[in-house]
Amino acid sequence: MNYHLAVITHVMLVFLGAVLAVPLDLRDVFVPPVLYPATGTVWKIGSRHNVTWDISTPPSQITNKLGRILLAKNGTLDIEHPLAVGFDIMNGRQVVAVPPHVKPDADYQVVVFGDSGNMSKKFTITE
Ligand SMILES: *[C@@H]1O[C@H](CO)[C@@H](O)[C@H](O)[C@H]1NC(C)=O
Ligand SMILES: *[C@@H]1O[C@H](CO)[C@@H](O)[C@H](O)[C@H]1NC(C)=O
Ligand SMILES: *[C@@H]1O[C@H](CO)[C@@H](O)[C@H](O)[C@H]1NC(C)=O
Repeated sequence: MNYHLAVITHVMLVFLGAVLAVPLDLRDVFVPPVLYPATGTVWKIGSRHNVTWDISTPPSQITNKLGRILLAKNGTLDIEHPLAVGFDIMNGRQVVAVPPHVKPDADYQVVVFGDSGNMSKKFTITE
């Protein structure tokens, strides 16, 4: 790797680290409340569903319109297996498939991230 490329890479990594280190609540964030899934929702493994969220109160300036949906279990995000990435956060819905690797349980949540995220209510996944 030549010197300039190394410097640029280093600067980018430092910048990325700084961005990731900023507390979510200090950023100009859109945290759409998740409407579905909700309490009482049951999803089967492998089935497909529309996750929906409220887009009625977006901030005046959205710095990152691309969304990401993650599954959380007992409050822990599965960041390695996003349910959906790269969709427009202003769509208000996104189809996701329940991944085959998840264990049936009643402590799942989804998080819709634009600039930040907001967890759904806990719901159930079954075989
Ligand atoms: C997430 O959405 C709920 C409404 O469903 C809201 O009360 C709460 O403040 C939001 N959380 C954040 C971090 O904005
Ligand atoms: C998601 O919602 C769209 C629009 O209502 C609908 O056409 C589509 O069939 C839904 N997909 C699933 C998997 O529910
Ligand atoms: C769920 O999370 C809480 C708090 O992090 C922890 O105390 C509890 O043991 C967890 N439960 C399971 C079943 O992992």
